[in-house]
Amino acid sequence: MTLSGKRVLLIISGGIAAYKSLDLIRRLRERGASVRPIMTASAQEFITPLAVGALAASHVYLDLFSREDEQDVGHIRLARECDLIVVAPATANVMAKMAQGLAEDLASTVLLAADRPVLVAPAMNPKMWAHPATQRNVATLKQDGIHFIGPKAGEMAESGESGMGRMAEPLEIVATIEAMLEDQPKPLKGRTAIVTSGPTHEPIDPVRYIANRSSGKQGHAIASALASLGADVTLVSGPVIIADPAGVKTIHVERAEEMRDAVLSLLPADIAVMVAAVADWRVASASGQKIKKQPGDAPPSLVLAENPDILKTVGHHEKRPRLVIGFAAETQNVEDNGRAKLARKGADLIVANDVSPETGIMGGERNHVTLISQDGTEHWPDMDKNSVAEQLARKIASLLALS
Ligand code: C5P
Repeated sequence: MTLSGKRVLLIISGGIAAYKSLDLIRRLRERGASVRPIMTASAQEFITPLAVGALAASHVYLDLFSREDEQDVGHIRLARECDLIVVAPATANVMAKMAQGLAEDLASTVLLAADRPVLVAPAMNPKMWAHPATQRNVATLKQDGIHFIGPKAGEMAESGESGMGRMAEPLEIVATIEAMLEDQPKPLKGRTAIVTSGPTHEPIDPVRYIANRSSGKQGHAIASALASLGADVTLVSGPVIIADPAGVKTIHVERAEEMRDAVLSLLPADIAVMVAAVADWRVASASGQKIKKQPGDAPPSLVLAENPDILKTVGHHEKRPRLVIGFAAETQNVEDNGRAKLARKGADLIVANDVSPETGIMGGERNHVTLISQDGTEHWPDMDKNSVAEQLARKIASLLALS
């Protein structure tokens, strides 16, 4: 499959040619690509989110200010968690917004936030295409490095007029996508990776549990960044409210023991990055029934048992991955604690960070990490979690190339 593992963010804007985008989704998926669709308001006048979502087997993103979607993925993640952004059909209006740098709905905001290659497939009335304003915008966009396919000459579906303005056919768009993605270096192609992310929930009884503040943002971003470099990634995620990353297999678990079982079932692998904030302890014998509060009773006491250390188990396993990476969330002596962890856990690299409440790292968007290995210590500047993930993925690729 020529597009195996590739992640396409497809922006559908309003035009009768939107019906061809349904076929485009099919063709992309047939070739192994995953497709995340965004639809503008006017696109929804031509085709339904239901049809788009069913063909893409994905949530369809519609609103910039959807509480659910923003919490879930957010426009920045949408812009980043893909290998390529395709705008098909692209109306004169969308191109004008892109050329001006306007960000007034989800599609235009994602396009402005994008740092991935963008392919535009225009579709419009020939007069609109030929208009000097549109041609100026096309020239600006080409200068900005935006790629174009079409439009083609032909008869217009709605007016019967003919001229330049028909959207390129889905198979032509697919061929251009294949050519664009071929050039990207994929240093982790053929490598398998396991990533853990998020907290674990340790039950006290059927309704209560012990948890921590991990959001899963850093682990999910790392899974995504490894996939962008071509790795075959399985993410084992504890309970989080963010979406599964595109182009990654995700296994959902709740408890540390479930996470351990899932991780061990995935061995052998080339890379393990254990980012999850696994609860150190579970309740020794969780109650099968809700523990009732009885008037006059003393509060119940919880007896805890130690959870399996997944990183340590993987670091000392007979099927140990070639590269085992752990995280160390600390609130004091970050470097010393990280170095001790490197040896104890049998890891090749520990990514240590200070999660004292004043840093805002736990659950936040940014991270400030120190990399600790046998070779020494690297202090990275404060960055957003996606940038940490991308740099770490590149580091992993270079470490594997050396070993
Ligand atoms: O010992 P500590 O919890 O500080 O170690 C953190 C590292 O170990 C992280 O990479 C975390 O994912 C991993 N870990 C684990 N299983 C545990 C505890 C931590 O995999 N039970």
